Amino acid sequence: MARRTIFAGNWKMYTVRGEALALARGILEGLKSPIPHEVVLFTPAVHLFEVAALCAGGPVAVGAQNMYFEREGAFTGEISPAMVKDSGARWVLIGHSERRHVFHETDEDVNKKLRAALQAGLLPMVCVGELLDEREAEKSEDVVRVQVERAFEGLTGGEAASVVIAYEPVWAIGTGKVATPEIAQSMHGHIRAVVEKLFGGDVAGAMPILYGGSVKPDNIAGLFAMEDIDGALVGGASLKASSFLEIARVR
Ligand code: PGA
Repeated sequence: MARRTIFAGNWKMYTVRGEALALARGILEGLKSPIPHEVVLFTPAVHLFEVAALCAGGPVAVGAQNMYFEREGAFTGEISPAMVKDSGARWVLIGHSERRHVFHETDEDVNKKLRAALQAGLLPMVCVGELLDEREAEKSEDVVRVQVERAFEGLTGGEAASVVIAYEPVWAIGTGKVATPEIAQSMHGHIRAVVEKLFGGDVAGAMPILYGGSVKPDNIAGLFAMEDIDGALVGGASLKASSFLEIARVR
């Protein structure tokens, strides 16, 4: 089945204003030669308005890297779904491994954020992935299955149909140790089977599942050739327009 293909940049806590705008401009410039994939830039929250304004009407969508699940209130330091939406961003990243492991977000938080994003009309990209010791203990499939089941708890099939998953093995993020195409494919196939069990074949078959973790221009082709890999969530290599574009131009 032909699925949507998506290449997303996760800028993490990099770029001050001028750098963010220059990076977005460089990517827009490069996309004057169109590519057959969707492109999303997950920028730091303070740059959302300006980057979204710059990208408006073009081939690049913008997203927040995180948000809180409450509508509003006394939650110092947090940003709400409505604030993300109001910035012009259409997407939100949920449950990135750095949120889970550095900021102790739980599967329950991920589930609440996913529901809040859908309610606000944002497009959620939910991240899952196992730790190195979980892989070594051969628990990867169980860990990721539970992350997916808990993230999607209480969602209808219709809601699940607008969610994108990013599989990011934690041992591959920022380490230069990319998963082999075979490992990634096997996990993507597994994730699709879990989604199929929850929501049926139509939802599972159409859901884009992106790979993330040390994606670079020289390893994307092998990954993207795999049947269940529908694009990439790129960290380090998304901070330079040239390397991000080279990745996103894969066929
Ligand atoms: P990386 O990060 O490409 O630098 O490994 C990926 C991510 O954390 O989304």
